[in-house]
Amino acid sequence: MRKITMLGTGFISDFYAMSLLGQRSRDTILNVGGHTEAGTQAFAAKWGIPRWSTNLAEAINDPETDTVVIGLPNYLHKEAALGAAQAGKAVLCTKPLAISGAEARAMLEAVEKAGVFHGYLEDLVYTPKTLKAVQAVKNGALGKVLWARSREAHPGPHSDWFWNKELSGGGAIVDMGCHCIEINRNFIGKDIRPVEAMCWAGTQVHPIEAEDSAVGLVRYENGAIGQFEVSWTFRGGMDLRDEVTGTQGTIWLNHWLRTGFEMFTAVGQGGYVAEKAEGETGWLFPVGDEPGSLGYTPMFAEMFDAAERGALPMETFYDGYVVNSIIDACYKSAQSKKWEPVQLDIWRGATGVSASVGQVEYDAQYWLMKSEVMPDGKTKVILKDKQTGQFVQKVNP
Ligand SMILES: NC(=O)c1ccc[n+]([C@@H]2O[C@H](COP(=O)([O-])OP(=O)(O)OC[C@H]3O[C@@H](n4cnc5c(N)ncnc54)[C@H](O)[C@@H]3O)[C@@H](O)[C@H]2O)c1
Repeated sequence: MRKITMLGTGFISDFYAMSLLGQRSRDTILNVGGHTEAGTQAFAAKWGIPRWSTNLAEAINDPETDTVVIGLPNYLHKEAALGAAQAGKAVLCTKPLAISGAEARAMLEAVEKAGVFHGYLEDLVYTPKTLKAVQAVKNGALGKVLWARSREAHPGPHSDWFWNKELSGGGAIVDMGCHCIEINRNFIGKDIRPVEAMCWAGTQVHPIEAEDSAVGLVRYENGAIGQFEVSWTFRGGMDLRDEVTGTQGTIWLNHWLRTGFEMFTAVGQGGYVAEKAEGETGWLFPVGDEPGSLGYTPMFAEMFDAAERGALPMETFYDGYVVNSIIDACYKSAQSKKWEPVQLDIWRGATGVSASVGQVEYDAQYWLMKSEVMPDGKTKVILKDKQTGQFVQKVNP
């Protein structure tokens, strides 16, 4: 059983509380730290939390709690994580881990020096669909992953501080690119080093200093490409899709707008539909179990099980640090308009991984390029001569 201090009383803390307390949970929230007295007290009352404080240090140092869950605006993550590490408590931090790679590194070093359990709350790699898809990829279902594409787009964040670059660390890239980058890493392989990034970032609609849309490419040492597309300008709800292509197969995931639950109503369904839904009439895409579908419930279960076994969870501060470092390279590239190296002073994965995929042999003379059944019913094979390099085709009846 975990005894939790929750930091933050907003959108994500509500989802975390739903996941932690919504079922017949063994875990409990004993203290909540927030910003305003009214908001913090109201959150405590709503979730039956016995103590609350507007002083974050006081909430962190509650002598009865053993775990700190950080659901604060991005610029407060570092201070909160360092405070929790100093208090000797397990610390779980929402995404993005930090507002830069350097800040994320300081957080990683602090938790490791203190020897406390740490988890990076990247819920979207814990969605039931993603967990199953990643396992299939690990089992070899797609062969070698060549390209992973992750897209997150919605009409923009729900609180003022996200829009202020000083407080958030950037726009759609740091806010949503962090999800996409980590999803892609999970499919490509987290021990494969991200080498360099190329990114376009634009401010297409909103009067803000940060980007409200971006597209990025991350090249991995094994030749795979991770592509992310993020936007705060998308209309129609929240578009959460992933596509993975390998030498032997493909996976397409649609997490939000095509969930298998589609409803038309001319009069409305009586309130909240799903995160970032833009209306409550017409065609709707409700979600049955939102904290489960977004991965929050499986995420806490995996993290706390790992903590109790004395093991690392699937997502640690180290992963958050790698993601922030990739984001730094993306911001540099958006400025320089060039590929920029991903600066990773701490790299714990594989090194010197080859990008080669190996060829399929047709016979002693040829490599097989491809084989296709044509409209006339005959099979055409395209071959490459191993010695001369010449391409030839054969039609087999
Ligand atoms: N899918 C996800 O994992 C996901 C989704 C949404 C948000 N987030 C992350 O959660 C964090 C919080 O976002 P949110 O959507 O809950 O924002 P929010 O604005 O809804 O809530 C933020 C909360 O932080 C607290 N707070 C704000 N300023 C504070 C201060 N100076 N001192 C103490 N407490 C303060 C308040 O309790 C406030 O309600 C962000 O890092 C965001 O990126 C993650």
